[in-house]
Amino acid sequence: MPSLLDPGVERDPYPLYRTLREGFPLVRDELLGAWLLSRYADVRAALVDARLGASGAGPSPACQGLLEPALRAAAERTAFVLARRIAGRREVDLVAEFSAWLPAAAAVAALGLPWEDAARVREWCRTGPAHPGGRHPELGGLLRRHIARRRAHPGTGLLSVLCDARVDGQALRDDTVTGLAGTLLTGGGEAAAHALASFLANLLDHPAQLDLVRARPELIPGAWAESLRRDPPAPVVLRRALVPISLGGTTLPTGAVVACLVGSAGRDPFRFADPDRYDIFRAGPADPADPAHLAFGAGQSFCPAAALAALTAECGLRALLAAMPGLRWAPGFRPAPRGLMARAPRLLLVRPS
Ligand code: HEM
Repeated sequence: MPSLLDPGVERDPYPLYRTLREGFPLVRDELLGAWLLSRYADVRAALVDARLGASGAGPSPACQGLLEPALRAAAERTAFVLARRIAGRREVDLVAEFSAWLPAAAAVAALGLPWEDAARVREWCRTGPAHPGGRHPELGGLLRRHIARRRAHPGTGLLSVLCDARVDGQALRDDTVTGLAGTLLTGGGEAAAHALASFLANLLDHPAQLDLVRARPELIPGAWAESLRRDPPAPVVLRRALVPISLGGTTLPTGAVVACLVGSAGRDPFRFADPDRYDIFRAGPADPADPAHLAFGAGQSFCPAAALAALTAECGLRALLAAMPGLRWAPGFRPAPRGLMARAPRLLLVRPS
């Protein structure tokens, strides 16, 4: 029986995804210890099925509307600085110098924390509990020190806003502020950085579409959503059966783990015509930001930071395009995405001009 842990799958899972969709739509992966679902319709149905519990930390208000204006301003500023810093180089790796930094550094800037914290936050995103919603244990210590300082000497940024906030006349408790700020800093793990790397790779691979997006920035949301469909950064979303559940004629016992293969669902030809093709117009004009991809999950645990991730990516792309009019691959370079649970190219060698 095929397994996600078979050799080579981490580099190129698409042949296996096809085999699964065509011949084994629900199959037990003994090596992984999970049931695999690979067809778009089945994955979507499982994600919204209340009998299958999610493993996430629960939605956090940290990811809701309050944060959006502050994060947008911080992401614009941070992306501008990062892009200007590399614009004059002959050749540059956009992962090491840009996409791996932007989400963490933008969150640090939005909270009003010092720039030096960005390196630590980036490292915690890389090594901390896997997304979704995870927070690195050392984050609490860092935030508590900043909170104590802000309570004594209010400053600018979201952390001061949270420290000053009153609910029914009461200040928010330290652990509430830590929870909110912590989710913003590391709740996405590396997902946002990986998604940004794949987004840049897809556009650089399609220079004509990149030119269109450069000329018409209103096409960016569709281009971003299409990249998430084709190359989701978290291609496997796990669920656990809360009760015995019958799927496609097979009964799974309580506790069975179901791996919803979002990466396979996004390439299902029964849902998406010519699914391997990257096409920024795929969703059509009706709702360019929603080509029905499942990269943020679905149902009750739908990623609460989907809009924040989109705005960070948009600010990042705009800053790069503004600073680098001739942005293109370095001669001979081809991106090589890898990773099973967290997937993205780890190197993006470009010529900025
Ligand atoms: C492009 C970037 C991102 C992608 C593709 C992504 C994807 C996902 C997915 C697939 C889930 C699980 C949904 C489910 O179980 O149905 C999730 C949950 C979650 N994500 Fe994200 N995410 C991203 C960025 C972020 C960021 C930046 C944050 C924090 C600021 C974040 C915070 C969370 C939280 C807290 C949950 C748990 C929700 C719950 O359990 O109800 N995500 N995300």
